[in-house]
Amino acid sequence: MKGDLILYNIGTLVTSKELQRESIGDMENIEILHNAYLAVSKGKVLALGQGEVPKSIVGEETLLVDAHKKVVTPGIIDSHTHLVHYGSRENELPLKIKGVPYLGILKKGGGILSTVRDTRKATEEQLFQKAYDVLNRMLAFGVTTVESKSGYGLNLETELKQLRTNKKLNENHPIDVISTFLGAHAVPEEYKDDPKGYVNEVIRMLPIIKESNLAEFCDIFCEDSVFNVEESRHILKEAKKCAFKLKIHADEIVSLGGAELAGELSAISAEHLMAISDKGIKELCKNNVIANILPGTSFNLGKDYAPVRKMIDKGITVAISTDYNPGSCPCENIQLAMNIASAQIKMTPIEIFKSVTINAAKAVGRQDTIGSLEVGKLADFVVFNVENLNYIFYNFGINHVEDVYKQGEKVISKGKINFS
Ligand code: NIG
Ligand code: FE
Repeated sequence: MKGDLILYNIGTLVTSKELQRESIGDMENIEILHNAYLAVSKGKVLALGQGEVPKSIVGEETLLVDAHKKVVTPGIIDSHTHLVHYGSRENELPLKIKGVPYLGILKKGGGILSTVRDTRKATEEQLFQKAYDVLNRMLAFGVTTVESKSGYGLNLETELKQLRTNKKLNENHPIDVISTFLGAHAVPEEYKDDPKGYVNEVIRMLPIIKESNLAEFCDIFCEDSVFNVEESRHILKEAKKCAFKLKIHADEIVSLGGAELAGELSAISAEHLMAISDKGIKELCKNNVIANILPGTSFNLGKDYAPVRKMIDKGITVAISTDYNPGSCPCENIQLAMNIASAQIKMTPIEIFKSVTINAAKAVGRQDTIGSLEVGKLADFVVFNVENLNYIFYNFGINHVEDVYKQGEKVISKGKINFS
């Protein structure tokens, strides 16, 4: 078969194909090729390798593109976001600067509850347009797949409105959007005096959401003064019965035992983990739960970073994502999250790329089709305008992406949107 498109003269091709680990704590076990080529046919990877492009895959129609020795990686996967919401909360910034804690703002009816008020009022078109613009920026940062949670409706009507918006975004934007139901994101104001009543309401929503086919995962904010471990277990067990795959916002601010619960329920991933205990680390490890780390949130809240080095040493699969949301991390720049992981968490460039490609694909259950450049997988890839991987982390705070290809189509060209 001939390639539709072949990139040649690639300086560094990070394929993210997993190689044998050298030790349990080896998270640099991905394939990196130098002086490489990458061939695409019908939106999928046809061939790749080092050195000269084989003549057998070059046809008359093949578009040959010189990569000028730049760095090429799989399309980045942002595996934890709160993409669809309305309004913004810059009014909370002075409080945050004065030291009012994140959960303190929520307790006073601000925080998540303030975004719930705005999201309930917004039309579906407004939600779509705001999120679409954000997806454009994410794409320009090299992101080709995004997980997107509901959780700013906290009633059936608005949760469905958010989830329908995910579907519409997935259908209308080059980025693939994977949908998660987060009805248990906070207790809404109307249930202030009856939090158990809201737990029952979420449980009532689960089969309806499942039936609608609008969400693949179910997530919960297991946190002090939000949903305790017992309530989280109750909701997630019901979600499991409805065949949702599970995620948990675990041990974000307070060490409550969310990671242990993720292990107990064999969740796909536990997210945040800034306050995870040693026992929690053991449980993630024992049950093969992915640790999804959100460095931008620690940075923005001025909190500790998740103990990632400890987790890597134990062999836990680590993913990195933005947590893009209007409160704890109003930032859709995955490269910034990656830079923070390098400077503050001391992860290596290769570990970080593994965390946003193949490991992130596992966190969204898509490792068979995306997350690495291997024959037959989707041709989602990014060309970085740098000479080597380290440069992306050395010269931080700017966007190093030049071109982004989604299923072989160039959707970002020289940093600009290239689709209509
Ligand atoms: O992941 N912690 C809960 N949810 C989000 C923040 C949501 C918000 O503040 O609006 C998070 O940090
Ligand atoms: Fe989150």
